[in-house]
Amino acid sequence: MSFVVAIDGPAASGKGTLARRIAAQYGFHHLDTGLTYRAVARAMLDAGASLDDEEAAAELAENLDLSGLDRDVLSAHEVGEAASRVAVMSKVRAALKRAQQQFARKSPGAVLDGRDIGTVICPDADIKFYVTASDAVRARRRHAEMAAKGAAAAYDAVLADLRRRDARDSERADSPMRPAHDAYLLDTTEMDIEAAFAAAQCLIEKAIAAKN
Ligand code: CDP
Ligand code: CDP
Repeated sequence: MSFVVAIDGPAASGKGTLARRIAAQYGFHHLDTGLTYRAVARAMLDAGASLDDEEAAAELAENLDLSGLDRDVLSAHEVGEAASRVAVMSKVRAALKRAQQQFARKSPGAVLDGRDIGTVICPDADIKFYVTASDAVRARRRHAEMAAKGAAAAYDAVLADLRRRDARDSERADSPMRPAHDAYLLDTTEMDIEAAFAAAQCLIEKAIAAKN
C-alpha cells in the first residue's frame, strides 16, 4: 500500500508541524514543499540574480536536489519573501512539480505540505487537509519562532509580511493557494499541536481502513 497525505495552508498555520507528526506516526516520507521554493530563492539571492529572471530560476529548479533541504538554513525572512516571488513563475512551478510528484510516489506513503498539494501536485491524494488559523495567531506564532532564533522583529511587521505573502500566494494565476474541494478544513486558531494531530489522525485512520 502507498498512501498520500496532502496538507496545504497559509504561512504559520501549523501545516509543517502536522505533516511531521503524521509522517512520524505512520512511517511515511515527508516533503516540505515550501523548502523547494525557498531553496530556489536562496540560490537566486546568492547568485545575485534578479528575482524576475524566470529562466535562471527555472534552471535552478530543474537541478534542485530534494535530499539536502534544511529549514534552518532556509528560514530567513528575506528567503520566504523571495520564495513567494519565484513561486509565481510557471516554469519554476513546472520543474518543482515533477520532483514533488516523484516524491509522492514513495512507499509506504508520503506526506507533502505546501500551498497547492491537494489541488495540483496530488489531486488524487488519499486524504487532504487545509490548515488555517487567524492572521493574528499565525503572526504571533511566527513572531515567537523568530524571537526564539534571535531574529526578533516587530509583531506588526511580521503580521504585514504574512498578509502580503498570503495575498501573493492566493492571487497568483498559476496554482494559487486554496483548499481542494475535497479537503478537510482544520482551523488551528484555538488548537495546540496535539489537538490538531488528534483531529487529523482520526480522519486518517478512517481513510486507511477504507483503502484496505
Ligand atoms: O513556512 P512558510 O509558511 O512561511 O512558507 P513556506 O511553506 O516555506 O513557503 C514559502 C513560499 O513558497 C510560499 O509563500 C509560497 O509562495 C511558496 N510555495 C508555493 O508556492 N507552493 C508550495 N507548494 C509551497 C510553497
Ligand atoms: O508550516 P507552517 O508555516 O504552516 O507552520 P509550522 O511551522 O508548522 O508552525 C509555525 C509555528 O506555530 C511553530 O512554532 C509551531 O510550533 C507553532 N504551532 C502552534 O503553536 N500551534 C499549532 N497548532 C501549530 C503550530
